[in-house]
Amino acid sequence: MDTIKLLCYTFFFLAIMSEYMDIEIQLATEKQKKQKPADSELVFGKIFTDHMFEVEYENENWGTPKIVPYHPFTLDPATTVFHYAQEIFEGMKAFRHPDGSVHLFRPYKNAERFNRSAERMSMPIINKDLFVKAITELVRLENEWVPSSPGMTLYVRPTMIATEVALGVHPSDKYLFYVILSPVGPYFKTGFKPTKVYVASTHIRAAPGGTGEAKTGGNYSPTLWSQQKAKSRGYPQVLWLDAIERKYIEEAGAMNIMFVIDGEIYTPPLDGTILRGITRASVLELAKDLGYVAHEKPITITDLINKIEDGSCN
Ligand SMILES: Cc1ncc(COP(=O)(O)O)c(C=O)c1O
Repeated sequence: MDTIKLLCYTFFFLAIMSEYMDIEIQLATEKQKKQKPADSELVFGKIFTDHMFEVEYENENWGTPKIVPYHPFTLDPATTVFHYAQEIFEGMKAFRHPDGSVHLFRPYKNAERFNRSAERMSMPIINKDLFVKAITELVRLENEWVPSSPGMTLYVRPTMIATEVALGVHPSDKYLFYVILSPVGPYFKTGFKPTKVYVASTHIRAAPGGTGEAKTGGNYSPTLWSQQKAKSRGYPQVLWLDAIERKYIEEAGAMNIMFVIDGEIYTPPLDGTILRGITRASVLELAKDLGYVAHEKPITITDLINKIEDGSCN
């Protein structure tokens, strides 16, 4: 009996060890911990939890993965990321279910997309299991920061930046991968309501052969001009058109787009200029499973307006 008990304890101990084996954990002191906001005060992306994950890449290897107290970075002004924008990121959410448990939505899909972005930006890929484990362990540690009110979530932002200190356009030889967490309310100030979109006519977001499919900061800063213009006219989102003919719908500023026309689903194809949205893929999979007809094909803005006006798209 005692031997069985001992074996059980040993297995339990090993399970805990193996779960934490790869990631060093340094807990925040009581003094470093922040005041948690009430769910009703949450907006998008303004406050961050007590800990973050980080791991450095140097000499073609990833170093020791760590969870540490949330902290600012000190970076040399000549750090590559500041000059040539070699940077990628991801965005996903941890949701609290009514029974109190916390769930991530398809995190391996984010890991796959992160590595696609890394390859496009000449950055090192990261082990997908480590990517997911970093997030699950961090979210587990910050469990109390996951809001429980409907619509409120813990936003997860994995990021990689080039950290070599050097000028001159070349891939960095050092990188930092880190994950931060932010309890959030709705992305739009208007809350969970339909959003008006402004069709961009002056600028484009991405061109064939460019980086449109990568989740890199350089795809977002050039969109701010149109976003501000849209905002000043009362539209919270921009709807982008293709770079060549300026007539095919691509995607919105921070989301893919779908239309229901005559009871069938239409969405622009993945042609390298739009983000491979995980929501997009999931909606298409679910729609097909549920027996809906879903098309991934180019849609012109004129066609769409006609379909809205004649009532076939609603
Ligand atoms: C440009 C762009 N398209 C689409 C999406 C939606 O992606 P996902 O469904 O994976 O969250 C995002 C998300 O932030 C985005 O920034």
